Formats: sequence, structure tokens, C-alpha cells
Amino acid sequence: MRVAGVHRRSIVAANHGRSIEIIDQRALPHALVSATLATTEDVARAIREMWVRGAPLIGAVAAYGVCFALRDDPSDAALDRACLDLVATRPTAVNLRWALEEIRRAVVAAPVGRRLDFGWRRAAAICEEDVAINEAIGRNGLPLLRVLFARKPMGQRLNILTHCNAGWLATVDWGTALAPIYMAHDAGIPVHVWVDETRPRNQGALTAWELGQHGVPHTVVVDNAGGHLMQHGMVDVCIVGTDRVTAVGDVCNKIGTYLKALAAMDNGIPFYVALPYPTIDWAAEDGLTSIPIEERDPAEVHCVEGLRTRAPHGAAGARVRERVRIHPTTSSASNYAFDVTPARLVTALITERGVVAASREGLASLYPDREVAKSGAASFMRS
Ligand code: MRU
Repeated sequence: MRVAGVHRRSIVAANHGRSIEIIDQRALPHALVSATLATTEDVARAIREMWVRGAPLIGAVAAYGVCFALRDDPSDAALDRACLDLVATRPTAVNLRWALEEIRRAVVAAPVGRRLDFGWRRAAAICEEDVAINEAIGRNGLPLLRVLFARKPMGQRLNILTHCNAGWLATVDWGTALAPIYMAHDAGIPVHVWVDETRPRNQGALTAWELGQHGVPHTVVVDNAGGHLMQHGMVDVCIVGTDRVTAVGDVCNKIGTYLKALAAMDNGIPFYVALPYPTIDWAAEDGLTSIPIEERDPAEVHCVEGLRTRAPHGAAGARVRERVRIHPTTSSASNYAFDVTPARLVTALITERGVVAASREGLASLYPDREVAKSGAASFMRS
């Protein structure tokens, strides 16, 4: 997608086997900073500390992380160690496990001396496939937005609400939930996006930055505003991404998604979830009991971080990042990072293969070949 008019991707692997370049998302939206990752440990840290984030992107970056391990030691033991270390970095997004299993499958059959080569090629293919998948999600989601726009009174824009960041920063390119929105904007549909702030990590700031770079009109709202907007006819449709969808269509996504789905149902507003096939966990059924929900450091809840807007004592303001505590030092906090939206609250799933009901039958109709994925899910990395 475009940054200051220039096309770029969230991950670039130019240096065969040696390093990859990523965007350090911790600096956004105030600075666009690249970082070079050259070891498995670099990659594990970047995923754990959310330099990179978003289900498809952490899978793609982790795939390269295994390659770095193979570069230094192509043995089975090193491969297993790297996969186990990387899969432990973030527990909820199943794309991470999927990508590691893909790399594993690609290299175990290769001669030991060529494992890095096989792994590197598979990692590059995962990235290319992600771009193609997300473009297809955009194409499949666009007609839904066209239909909704056609129902609007003349001269009114189409108001879309999204939660977290499921844009190109969360993938290799395009994004999932944002792909149909970019395509609608490019097709001349006057879209406007309500961007949930998404405390505590404020992924909404990333969404706002992305949309701004692409010229898509948008407004950031606090996480609790969605219900009010929906009650007052200010939302025509919700579209979100997801970190894991179960075989029956339950959707796990960033904390707060469930509340938006409840409000959408109460107000008769369509609630779509966009996903690529690696986000489906065919071995999981009931989302509430089968998906590990990441609990992050309570410090993320206690503190907010941003750019200082005014220098102390009226001095000329430097662009300084600051982290300030907002809660009493005596209070504890919990930091559940994801929640589960039951399939019954989801209007439909937008995938690279088409739009289907969030149900066992819907998913099975699109993915009759799902047994392939199921066999992978039985691996030693199962979570
Ligand atoms: O904790 P994050 O920022 O990695 O969570 C990301 C999300 O919840 C996204 O909505 C999800 O990964 C879909 S991204 C295409």
C-alpha cells in the first residue's frame, strides 16, 4: 500500500537468508521506522513486543525466523527449537502456528544442506500468497459495500466501523478487513471509517495512519462509542479482522470485538469478519473453550504512550515520545488481549474464496480440502 504516495509492504526480505526488514510498528503513527531482523531471537522479540503484529504478519515474520535458525544450524533439533520458541511468542493468532508448520513441512523433506534455501523460498511464498489472498478478500468484500451504498439516500457516504488494525500493517499488503474498504474508496464509493481506538495498544492509531496515507476519510472514536454511533444510524456496516476462526465459525479477535458485534446485532447492522484461510483452526470448535486468550502485561493498561504535544515550561516542543501512568499505583489491572464473538453474531465471513455464513456448513462449503489443514493442526506445536 501507499506511504506518502510510495508503494511499500510491511516486510521486505531482500537479503537471501541473512535478514529481513520490517516496520517497527511501535513508532507509528508518529514516525515510520524500519528495523532489521537477522536472528531467530530478533524475530521472537519483535513478535512478542509487537514491533510486528496482526495475525497474518506475525506468521510471515515467524517463517523467516525459522530460516535464521536453519542458516546457523540446519539440524532437526534446531528446527524444533526455533518452531517451539516462535510459537510461544503469542498464543492466540493461529496464523503463527500455521506458518511455522508450513516452513517445517517445506524443510523436513529437504537435504540438510538445502534446508535454508527451501525454508527461505517457502517464507517468500507465504508472503506472496498473503498479498494475493488479501486482494481476493478485498474483491469479494467490495460487492457487499456496493450493495449497502446503493441503499443509502443520495449524497450520503457509507459509514463503516472497524476495530483494531486489520489493514496492510497487519498483513504483508492490503490487509483483510481494510482491503474491501480500500477497493471501495478506489472505486469511487464515498466511504467513511469509524476507527475504534482499541485500548490498550491503540491499534486504531495504526488504522487511522494507514487510512490517512491512502486518503480514506475516517474518524477515530474511543472504544465505547460504537454502540452510540450504531443507535443513531451513524454506522452502516462493521468489518473486522480475526486472529482465529473455529470450524463452526466462532471468531476470536481483538478485545472489544464481541461488544461491537452485540451492538451491531441489536441495531440490525451487518457485522462482517474478513479472514484468510490460515486463520481457520479446523481443530477448534467452541471458540470460548478452545482458543487460548493472550493475557499481556498489565502495564499496558496502566500506562498510555504518545507524542508530547507541549514542551514543559513553554519551551519549543521537541517531538518526544512519552509514557505516562494513568491509574493509581495501588490498583491492579488485567489485560486480556482478545475475545470471542460467537458465530450467531456474525453476518458473514469474507474470505479469499468468497463470502459465506459463519457456520460449519458455510466454511466446509468453501474449503472442502480442509483436511489438509487439519493434519497440520495435529502437530507438536498445537495450542
Ligand atoms: O494484538 P494484535 O495487534 O496482533 O491483534 C491484531 C488483531 O486483533 C487483528 O484484528 C487481527 O490480527 C486480524 S489482522 C488482519
